[in-house]
Amino acid sequence: MKFTVLSLFPEILRGFFESSIMAKAVERGLLSYELRDIRDFATDKHHKCDDLVFGGGAGLLMLPGPLGACLDAVGAKGKRVVYVTPGGRLLNQAYARELSREEELVIVCGRYEGIDQRVIDEYVTDEISIGDYVLSSGETAALVLVDSVYRLVDGVISGESLSEESFEGGLLEYPQYTRPAAYGTLRVPEVLVSGHHANIRSWRLKEAVRKTLALRPDLLADGVLTDEVRRILLEISAEGGCDGHHKED
Ligand code: ADE
Repeated sequence: MKFTVLSLFPEILRGFFESSIMAKAVERGLLSYELRDIRDFATDKHHKCDDLVFGGGAGLLMLPGPLGACLDAVGAKGKRVVYVTPGGRLLNQAYARELSREEELVIVCGRYEGIDQRVIDEYVTDEISIGDYVLSSGETAALVLVDSVYRLVDGVISGESLSEESFEGGLLEYPQYTRPAAYGTLRVPEVLVSGHHANIRSWRLKEAVRKTLALRPDLLADGVLTDEVRRILLEISAEGGCDGHHKED
């Protein structure tokens, strides 16, 4: 899969693509990337890329000329072109998974008040928001989007790691522990050092349900609940609700 990212500040993005798991995936040929500086496509001597908004209002808008020329240079027409904006469709795990099946994603980072609507109409297939808050730059949002997508591309991360994560199966991930088994006065739950795989699985599922109920009950309302999760919910409610007592387990 290829990520092509268009930005006025590509240096903000470069470190991410050159580090850690992403760098390894690029080295292994699973992913590639291209970072384009929109300012390279400005035609006046000051390399101007923004101007006032027609109709009035605070702030500046990115000019359609340089951005459109940059989109043409990367052959954006006919590709999946994402504009990251707080006014977009909310990103979630299912949406990230869908995008991870594309051969290429072209991502437009906005600055200032955003980009001219005509560029959206002409090139953009998806307007995506990473959350209900406003960032000062599209670059940080683009990195969140890229991070959520690239790790789902086949071969980048083991399938087992992915299937146990939060949101897979509609639940938040269960609590996890590493050595030492005793950390000050705090001990790892006994069941996790018992070696009893069925009990460990049941404990993890119950804790995942408990955590989801406490922090993200909306996921349980939206999701398709298995019979097992339904039974666990009844059990938790009989025990007195979601702020129950997993620490003593
Ligand atoms: N740009 C600024 N805020 C954003 C957000 N919440 N999501 C995506 N892009 C953004």
